[in-house]
Amino acid sequence: MGPILVLTDLHYTPDVPTEGPDPDARLAACLAHAAKAVPEAALLVLTGDLANKGDTASYARLKARLLDAHVPVRLMIGNHDHRENFATVFGADMLDDLGFVQGVQDMGDTRVIFLDTLFAPPYDYPASHCGWLCETRMNWLYRQLSDAPGRVVIFLHHPPHDVGFRAMDFLKLRNGAAFHDLIARHGNVAQIICGHIHRTISGTHRGTPFAVFKSPMMQMPLDFHTLNFEAECDDPPAFGIVLLTPEAVLVHSEDVPL
Ligand SMILES: [Fe+2]
Ligand SMILES: [Fe+2]
Repeated sequence: MGPILVLTDLHYTPDVPTEGPDPDARLAACLAHAAKAVPEAALLVLTGDLANKGDTASYARLKARLLDAHVPVRLMIGNHDHRENFATVFGADMLDDLGFVQGVQDMGDTRVIFLDTLFAPPYDYPASHCGWLCETRMNWLYRQLSDAPGRVVIFLHHPPHDVGFRAMDFLKLRNGAAFHDLIARHGNVAQIICGHIHRTISGTHRGTPFAVFKSPMMQMPLDFHTLNFEAECDDPPAFGIVLLTPEAVLVHSEDVPL
């Protein structure tokens, strides 16, 4: 089974922005680097915040760039996304029967689950910047965990617990404790992968390993105590690589030179 590439928090804009890096140029650089460094990749997961303002023009620009991807792409949404606009551009079949951007892919005996943690509609920011799994999505997750053929890897945009940044911890998955209760009852989740923070972070929470990756765009500076959740620094872009072996789930992060 080939590696899984993870690109998170693309924050696409409809055009080249007047200030700061261009998300389209950054994604192009990441895709070119990944194609050269990991040509055997089996899947590319984009873990949400695809568009900075959830508009159709940004999604259309992203869709055009993804024609360059050398692997199949799994699209996920985050708090900067707009579910209906996303489906307008990428197609209604991006929504499951329940109306969410979620899905499952069994890779060998590993079940990979992609969750939709968008706390909207209504798109009433800043509340909607938090993550949420409603009862419908929790029940769906329960079913996917229950009949998994082996270990499970879960991708979700919002970390389902604190990661140490005071500001961003306000914007985590609000019902992360219920999420962790659910996965603890099943006992088959080997790895959680998140975005949202724009920084490389790993550890365990209640015994389950998690990893968070940097973005192709701006990164979170190291200030655990700031209350400014828009703090950013222009460190190099990066992406994640997840290797599934019979004995292990191995998680790498690769900086991309500009
Ligand atoms: Fe983001
Ligand atoms: Fe986010």
